[in-house]
Amino acid sequence: MSVQVWMHCDAATMVPGAQQPYGLVENAALVVEGDTLAWVGPHAELPSEWMERCTVLNDAGGALITPGLIDCHTHLVYGGDRANEFEMRLNGASYEDIARAGGGIASTVQATRTATAAELQARSTRRIKGLMAEGVTTVEIKSGYGLALEHERKCLAVARALAQHHAVDVRTTFLGAHAVPHEFAGRTDDYVDTVLQMLPVLHAEGLVDAVDGFCERIAFSTAQMERVFASAQALGLPVKLHAEQLSDSGGTQLAARYGALSCDHLEWLSAEGAQAMAAAGTVAVLLPGAFYFLRETKLPPIGLLRQHGVLMAVSTDSNPGTSPCTSLLLMLNMACTLFRLTPEEALAGVTRNAAAALGLKDRGVLAAGKRADFVLWDVQRPAELSYALGGNPRIQTIFKGQEVS
Ligand code: NIG
Ligand code: FE
Repeated sequence: MSVQVWMHCDAATMVPGAQQPYGLVENAALVVEGDTLAWVGPHAELPSEWMERCTVLNDAGGALITPGLIDCHTHLVYGGDRANEFEMRLNGASYEDIARAGGGIASTVQATRTATAAELQARSTRRIKGLMAEGVTTVEIKSGYGLALEHERKCLAVARALAQHHAVDVRTTFLGAHAVPHEFAGRTDDYVDTVLQMLPVLHAEGLVDAVDGFCERIAFSTAQMERVFASAQALGLPVKLHAEQLSDSGGTQLAARYGALSCDHLEWLSAEGAQAMAAAGTVAVLLPGAFYFLRETKLPPIGLLRQHGVLMAVSTDSNPGTSPCTSLLLMLNMACTLFRLTPEEALAGVTRNAAAALGLKDRGVLAAGKRADFVLWDVQRPAELSYALGGNPRIQTIFKGQEVS
């Protein structure tokens, strides 16, 4: 097996509880055996056996190395776009006017259903390449713009195919309970029945890693979401939830009862909700892009999350309606400027805690035994990654031990 040694670098290992902020190791060395990190620490302490076994010696040129970035909440497989609605809103139309005229999520569902798998793949490739250009090595992708078996399947299969064609890992999430499609208008419970029929079929086809929903007065109630969660649980699938985005509907407490991996958005999260998340070990996924794009003014209760020790992740929420964004570095900046996360919390949010939000224990930190997914950056200190607005200091990405071209 190949043994690569990386030297002449600083490593923000993001190992929790380390003495240095960011788990920073100055003058570090990393040893990669095959696709796994075998040793990480100060170069001066590198055991000589690794140098003896080394097959490739890499000079990182003084770069800062971080774990590969993880975008743990995206909806990046969709047809069409909503730039026209953006323009309509800036010309005075309200979101409701647009929705009544068949716009909003419904227009993306229409465009997604009409698109072929090849078209969706081409459009999604552009988006995933945008994320990868900034050092993303794992992406979660939700369905939820098909809302019928064949179209949900098409989107999830495209998500899986992206990982076959690119040096990136994709985790798929079934979001059948995203919105009620027009053919079920006024019959939400009947549509939930359909969601419950789709889930085992798509799961049996190997297309589903987790199950998500949109719990909100304009989408699905806690009772309806509970039906979806119960059927996910019966299949042994982990759950997540778009919760407390527009109102406090108690979705968080429901999700926590099902041991949810994450609750996402959370602007209206209550103290009880935060407590329930802490007790269940549910990660809070913060989505500053959607907050910004919707010109939201209600901030997620970061103090409450810190107080209860809830882990915080940060993600793009890449989608055509509320966050048409493929820059996770911009989200780092917005998490700091809009939500007042520290740069260290923000970086943990796209590495260690994003891994936790996906239930992945093999990545998110630089440590022996973890996957060799990491990024070399042309920065002096980690805070530069969240400080800059635009610009991309990525030098190189290593995915499963291999350089990504
Ligand atoms: O994460 N909150 C629900 N779903 C998406 C937006 C969907 C859309 O407007 O297309 C979100 O914000
Ligand atoms: Fe979302």
